Amino acid sequence: MRRILIDADTGIDDSIAILYALKSRNLHVEGITTCFGNSGAAQSADNCLRLIRLSRCGYEVPVVVGAECTLDGQVETAPAHIHGENGIGNVILPESARKPLEMDAADFILRKAEELDGELVIVTTGRLTNLARALEKDPRLPGKVKRVVTMGGCMDVPGNVSPVAEANIYGDARAADMVFRAGFHMILVGLDVTTKTFITEKELDDAERYCSEESRDAVAYIREALKLYFEYHRLSEGMVHRSFVHDPLALLIAEDASLGEYKMLRAGVEYQAPAFRGMILTDGRFRGEMDHDEIAVCVRVDADRAVRRLFSVFH
Ligand code: RIB
Ligand code: CA
Repeated sequence: MRRILIDADTGIDDSIAILYALKSRNLHVEGITTCFGNSGAAQSADNCLRLIRLSRCGYEVPVVVGAECTLDGQVETAPAHIHGENGIGNVILPESARKPLEMDAADFILRKAEELDGELVIVTTGRLTNLARALEKDPRLPGKVKRVVTMGGCMDVPGNVSPVAEANIYGDARAADMVFRAGFHMILVGLDVTTKTFITEKELDDAERYCSEESRDAVAYIREALKLYFEYHRLSEGMVHRSFVHDPLALLIAEDASLGEYKMLRAGVEYQAPAFRGMILTDGRFRGEMDHDEIAVCVRVDADRAVRRLFSVFH
């Protein structure tokens, strides 16, 4: 059983990732911290509480509201035509009786890392602001967690917010640079693989047909929320009745890294030159004692196996 903390900007694909994690028997969600991005951090936390209720996961999951702006105080959220006014495709899920934990998100991350004594896996599906703030408070954090798995970045494919940058990395590039260079055992799941992985109507039809009674509401929610996301992919990518699989792929890889192939790289993120903001910079010249700084960049994925597994938890 992997013990994970999810840090999310709970949009449509984040919400599917979170439902997957809550449903998987191989994962235990120790908590969810939220960040601005697809919507505000408080809205994201409210979405998480509703998703936890919807999942019927059978255990308590603390939710903590995190950063509402970048490390440098900028607020930029995604336009509503991507994830809807509420981040989850304008679907209104039943309210939760629970409230977010009143605690600083960085402190929550540090507390969980201490509590789990090297076992915690942190999965980020939004900006890296909360994790960077945790690092500012305790630079020894990388030695206290098992791994960080991050959905973000693009290496050999174009970005989705600029020719060189992906949204989660661009959205707080300085935070991303701090995290990349901090010495975490880190896996980066970027657009190179998430744009090779698709959810189509067929997966949704099959999920509806084969889901358990207990998962019926969750599957209905996914279908409804994806309507807007499919439309966004049609307008922006010319894709018909399908979407990329960004955030769920990070969760799937956190659970089973054998879904991907990796290249070890020393990497940082450009955050000063405006035209290159969010671009990942790699350096292959360092070796030997500096190799511990390398991160594992996912360069290939078994997309069919990943998508099959994604929907298998609803059976
Ligand atoms: O670039 C894709 C990422 O941006 C995903 O995490 C999506 O949810 C958005 O935040
Ligand atoms: Ca996200």
